[in-house]
Amino acid sequence: MTNPMHGPNRFKLGIFSANADGGLTLTKVPERWPAKWGEIVEVAQMADRAGIEFFLPIARWKGYRGETNSRQHSYETFTFAAALAGVTKNIALFSTVHVPMVHPVFAAKALATVDQASNGRAGLNVVAGWNPEEFALFGLDKVDSPYDQAAEWIDIITRLHTGESFDFKGKYYDLKGAVSQPGPVQDPRPVVLNAAFSPPGRNFAANHADFLFTTFSSIEAGADTITDIRARAATTGRDVGVYTTTHVVCRPTRAEAEAYYERYTVTEVDAEALDHLATAREKHTQSHDEATYRLYRQRFAGGAGTYPLVGTPNEIADQMIRMAEAGFAGTTVSFVNFKDDMPFFLGKVLPLLKEAGLRE
Ligand SMILES: Cc1cc2nc3c(=O)[nH]c(=O)nc-3n(C[C@H](O)[C@H](O)[C@H](O)COP(=O)(O)O)c2cc1C
Repeated sequence: MTNPMHGPNRFKLGIFSANADGGLTLTKVPERWPAKWGEIVEVAQMADRAGIEFFLPIARWKGYRGETNSRQHSYETFTFAAALAGVTKNIALFSTVHVPMVHPVFAAKALATVDQASNGRAGLNVVAGWNPEEFALFGLDKVDSPYDQAAEWIDIITRLHTGESFDFKGKYYDLKGAVSQPGPVQDPRPVVLNAAFSPPGRNFAANHADFLFTTFSSIEAGADTITDIRARAATTGRDVGVYTTTHVVCRPTRAEAEAYYERYTVTEVDAEALDHLATAREKHTQSHDEATYRLYRQRFAGGAGTYPLVGTPNEIADQMIRMAEAGFAGTTVSFVNFKDDMPFFLGKVLPLLKEAGLRE
């Protein structure tokens, strides 16, 4: 079968962070996502039935403290994808993997396992990582240029997936007789995203990934990112697309959507967790531009700094159409409670995207 990431829809959609409690939010509202296994399966199946292209977990090892300690409860992403392979039919199943924490020989074998179990639906989302608490949990120090290691890492995985047996001597890895069988179903390898924002991250995506997965502060700024990544990829003759990421509050009226957004991101925000995340991220990652930090604290409470889509089905579809026009290959969506919020979104917004010619 064709991995849906290579399918015909002009604007593809993914469900992001359903594997972690709170999803992408930092809110205390009682209906916040508990990330219980049975409900995750229901959500994955709902997305699968609706023709959503991909299911993308977040890679987290520690919570953000505060009252909710959101993301402390999260599922490991290779085993997550493998388990979902058995209960879904068409949707692509990504694993989000921290380069420094996971050995590439293990990653190659795990990814091929998911690809075999899902008949070619596996995807790899490469992340450099940024959170020193998570590095410490593995006994690691955060490195200054993670993408040098990432380049060796993905090179090893790609070569293993071609069926090669080889010795490898790099700065980070020294392997004798590396081999991994069986290989993946996808040829030459499963789809690769790279979640990054900075110029070194974009260079890595340009050289090694199929898609950059990135944030933007406005749709216009997102268009600049697309031009930038295309130019970087063109220097090596590659074609690299860009996916972005949003959080969604979709309601019959704009007033309802805004009132709910205000409630979960301001009135009921987990302020201590928000302070912890905002401070830690500002110190340790450039994955959003400065304007995003200053002006959009609410976006961190609403969806970890992703772009808010708050409004009626028409308003949300219109913004997605603008994203497609700006050149995005698609976006992820996240919700306060995936199971409760997705039916309205899927039922109302997808037909509008179809009408606009963005999806079949
Ligand atoms: C859209 C997006 C998704 C990300 N998802 C994760 C994640 O799941 N786990 C994680 O530790 N870091 C995640 N990151 C952070 C990256 O791993 C990286 O630390 C950050 O982007 C800074 O690196 P950069 O210099 O490449 O921008 C994500 C970043 C972006 C832009």
